Amino acid sequence: MSRTVYVNEEYLPEEDAKISIFDRGFLFADGVYEVTSVLDGKLIDFDGHAKRLARSLNELDMQEPCTEEELLEIHRQLIARNDLNEGLIYLQVTRGAADRDFVYPSADTKPTLVLFTQAKQIAISAAADSGIKVISIPDERWGRRDIKTVQLLYPSMGKMMAKAAGADDAWMVEDGFVTEGTSNNAYIVTHDGTIVTRHLSTEILHGITRAAVLNMANEAQMKLEERPFTIKEAQHAAEAFITSASSFVMPIVSIDGAAVGTGAPGPIAKRLREIYLEESRKAAL
Ligand code: PDD
Repeated sequence: MSRTVYVNEEYLPEEDAKISIFDRGFLFADGVYEVTSVLDGKLIDFDGHAKRLARSLNELDMQEPCTEEELLEIHRQLIARNDLNEGLIYLQVTRGAADRDFVYPSADTKPTLVLFTQAKQIAISAAADSGIKVISIPDERWGRRDIKTVQLLYPSMGKMMAKAAGADDAWMVEDGFVTEGTSNNAYIVTHDGTIVTRHLSTEILHGITRAAVLNMANEAQMKLEERPFTIKEAQHAAEAFITSASSFVMPIVSIDGAAVGTGAPGPIAKRLREIYLEESRKAAL
């Protein structure tokens, strides 16, 4: 069955949704995006995603296509019109359509706004039960990874490198330290039970799930440290995991072929996944 999608103020069947070949998202990857998860027909961490979108737009001098209240209404309409119980909502804003020129078009160019749903089981997940395998690759992305742009070719290549190596995903490494996963934030748990994840900077995306999970870990009185770590430290850690809107908390059981901890999902990652699911269901909009 065809989905109903949203394009520039219209709800349309997916096959009728069109944008211009001059759209700067298409020509220059001049666009930003958000992915928000849906559980029980409700939005998880919507406020965080809306705030980060506003920040990404501001960093690129891009216009906000509508207000946060209007965005919430569009998300809710898409959930209702597609009868979405569990899955993801993808949102993209581009600088709009204008004749091809590296210089930004005039400020009155209308931004393009596109949203669509993806039905998907994410709360109950075979991958979360078994844990996933990652490989390490050099981080060859641009320097403003704190802006959630649609320049996803390198992360896409990274997933393909992982697949070719018989793994599920890749952790990117810069100057000897892990930055993040191709589409998620990276963590280890040391043998004294401390959760370690890289500090926020322009080198990584400021994950909305990361913020929520660190808050919950803090409230549960778990030990936290925000600092870089190496692949070697991760391979010798007690546990490793990732977080994102599409995977929540996902245990990692192998890095570059070396088993992490017991080679099975660790208790802290499992506990954080449970807490995150429980708390975010309660706070869902
Ligand atoms: N990716 N780091 C990168 C590079 C990401 O692309 C993502 C999210 C994250 C986690 O952010 P959050 O917790 O806000 O989802 C970290 C989304 C899910 C995607 O591209 O599909």
